[in-house]
Amino acid sequence: MTDVPYPDATLHFGVFFQGVNHWTIWSAPESGSQLDPASFRRVAQTAERGLFDAFFLGEGLRLREVDGRIHDLDVAGRPDAITQLSALAAVTDRIGLVSTSNTTFNEPADLARRLSGLDLLSDGRAGWNVVTTDNAWTGENFRRGGFLDHADRYRRAEEFVVAARAIWDGWTADGPQRVQVRSSQFDLDLLPPLPRSAQGHPVIFRAGDSAEGRDFAARHADVIFSAHGNDFDDALAFAQDIRRRLRAAGRPEDDLRILPGTEIIIGATEEEAREKARWVRLQQVTPATALNIAGLVWGFDLSDRDADGPLPTEDPVIAENTGAFGARRVADPRAVVDRWRAESAAHNWSLRETAIALGPQRGHVGTPASLADKFTRFARFGAVHGFNITPYLIPDGLDDIVTLLVPELQERGVYRTSYTGTTLRDHLGLRAPLTRRDPVEQAS
Ligand SMILES: Cc1cc2nc3c(=O)[nH]c(=O)nc-3n(C[C@H](O)[C@H](O)[C@H](O)COP(=O)(O)O)c2cc1C
Repeated sequence: MTDVPYPDATLHFGVFFQGVNHWTIWSAPESGSQLDPASFRRVAQTAERGLFDAFFLGEGLRLREVDGRIHDLDVAGRPDAITQLSALAAVTDRIGLVSTSNTTFNEPADLARRLSGLDLLSDGRAGWNVVTTDNAWTGENFRRGGFLDHADRYRRAEEFVVAARAIWDGWTADGPQRVQVRSSQFDLDLLPPLPRSAQGHPVIFRAGDSAEGRDFAARHADVIFSAHGNDFDDALAFAQDIRRRLRAAGRPEDDLRILPGTEIIIGATEEEAREKARWVRLQQVTPATALNIAGLVWGFDLSDRDADGPLPTEDPVIAENTGAFGARRVADPRAVVDRWRAESAAHNWSLRETAIALGPQRGHVGTPASLADKFTRFARFGAVHGFNITPYLIPDGLDDIVTLLVPELQERGVYRTSYTGTTLRDHLGLRAPLTRRDPVEQAS
């Protein structure tokens, strides 16, 4: 029998209220509002009932566009995360509250103060998901356009996090101490405006997948939010890569929690789960969305085609992938088109069927028991520390997970049966903030 490398591992769940995306079904009768504060409250309170570590919000500072037009196939518009989370702090007691806030268009002293405010207001439940925001199209909101290339965005992100931590650390037992930050991007001289919270300072999350992004997480983050949570081998390879990078950064390899995003579809039987997944996919990949997904493969607008008809006969256009309009074209369009054509011919699939089967894939489908077995394996073989779950329906999409899956996980001893701490840092089982460790702890 294979030895289980992490026999005591437990799972940590976050819920990612996505806002802008086509994965949250918004056009079915079951769909609730994506903007009503009641939806946010309902999801956060359900997650807290399910003993989740965190409620997580992404950031999008500009409406999504594709080729210069508003992409109105998706949920559009997102309220400001810190504002939303501050409201949720008042109607929750334990769950962590994580704001995605970018380092490219913010300033460290201002953002550190706003995040500290949330951390104090929630008694140490705040998290900050550090993103670099990779598009010129967002930059146009700030009269900066394509501000900073990839490497410079990371340099700024690095210096930004160092500055934010210095500000947070600058309020000591003797009160605020002068903080000076001199780096390539910043020249700051200030007295920290707020004291430390119950957890020291906000927990640092990081979403980014490039080599630089992973190294950044290995140097600075407490949690990495990844897109490697659907397939076990892919998740394990990602986790092993992150552990290598942590060791290279001089940190213990259990110092960072790996929480990939994923979708979970539950049925009483495998058959029922598959039927539900089929319904979910048809709602997510509407005819118009299928044409949009195919357009990102072919590299030109296909919105006037018939989604229930065959694939386009034209060759794909190989366009530069700038990410400039909020949606990414696929990396190797010719290879993808060849595969789509072969599979579509073999199964007699329409364009929409092909987009559902071969377009972006996500998530796990099964019964509570089969999913609990699968996730236990993910945790105990070191592929993940948990999942940041994206409900496919707002506001009820988490209900099955909390009432059906969580008890199965608890029975297997892989999920908490009560909160044992009060802060987000406690829930995640993290050590003290990186800058506040004594040398012995740092080396352990
Ligand atoms: C799982 C995941 C979630 C992300 N969420 C956001 C987000 O909500 N807002 C945002 O501006 N960027 C988001 N990003 C983009 C990253 O900040 C980053 O700009 C982008 O991934 C490019 O960096 P990379 O090349 O290191 O991946 C996300 C990235 C990943 C991988």
